[in-house]
Amino acid sequence: MNLDDLSRDLETLAEETASALAGASDVAAVEALELDVLGKKGRLTGVLRGIGALPADDRPKVGAIANRVRATIEAAVAERRTILGSAELDARLRAETIDVTMPGRPIRRGSLHPSIESMAEIARIFAQFGFVTYETPEIETDEYNFQDLNIPQDHPARDLWDTLYVDIPGRLLRTHTSPGQIHVMRTVKPPIRAILPGRCFRYEAIDASHGTEFFQVEGLMIDEGTTLGDLRGLLDEFAHAMFGAGKKTRFRPGYYPFTEPSVAFDVECLVCGGPGCPACGRSGWMTILGAGMVHPVVLRNCGLDPERYQGFAFGMGPERIAMLRHRINDIRLFLENDLRFLGQFR
Ligand code: PHE
Repeated sequence: MNLDDLSRDLETLAEETASALAGASDVAAVEALELDVLGKKGRLTGVLRGIGALPADDRPKVGAIANRVRATIEAAVAERRTILGSAELDARLRAETIDVTMPGRPIRRGSLHPSIESMAEIARIFAQFGFVTYETPEIETDEYNFQDLNIPQDHPARDLWDTLYVDIPGRLLRTHTSPGQIHVMRTVKPPIRAILPGRCFRYEAIDASHGTEFFQVEGLMIDEGTTLGDLRGLLDEFAHAMFGAGKKTRFRPGYYPFTEPSVAFDVECLVCGGPGCPACGRSGWMTILGAGMVHPVVLRNCGLDPERYQGFAFGMGPERIAMLRHRINDIRLFLENDLRFLGQFR
């Protein structure tokens, strides 16, 4: 190895690198080339290994050539990297442009749950008669859920409202919205016109018409001189607004410990309109709620004088109302969260 050979090798390396750089098509290729030529174990170092075999006089000369070649290659690499880098950026910007004229991705539209929708509709109808909606507690005491409603401890009527108890002594999950009547009568001065929608719980065997969790809407009116006729007239208006004008209705005797007299309120069968069919048990009627005049004992429990104030109360199941309106045959559908069911109530 002599000075000329080494110098020639260095020039060759410079030329080869220059043409390889020209052929590199992306930044990654430039960087690979840079490592291959200028890296610690690169070709430049390889060539310079021969320097040791030269006479001492020649070594600085080779060193000078090597420095010039290295600087040239470094500059060429940097230039190529810049060119390819900006081309790549350009391409990316072009590829990732947002086309604002493209249609957007559809947003899935939700809807109110049919139980909620039903309660809102019930409240809307009674609001037209001056009834105000109140929220009352889901966790109750035995007093509110039973005793204040004239259902003493160990009374057989308790079987109608067997409940679920919570871990706090004396507390239970309300079995109906009727305890809300007590809250309202103890809080609001008559005249009272109240609608109390809310979730209820019962210890029940689940079937197509019974659930352990369901909603109720309670209604309460307290005033001087309120009569059963007022109740009948109001419920007629409600039935006509909810199920259609002109639908026949009727009162049947019923029993609730907290109303006297108590009634069941029926509307003519929405399927057959009277003659009787499987949907109405061949009776021609469908029961939509329970109601009655607020029992004097209940009024007194709330500090109201039955000689001065009378009132009525009614309670209905919004799921049942929705079932009648939409011909739904199983109450369990309301709690299954199956979108194939829920999506039908847009
Ligand atoms: N709370 C009764 C029930 O759950 C319904 C009702 C309410 C009856 C108000 C009369 C008056 O069955």
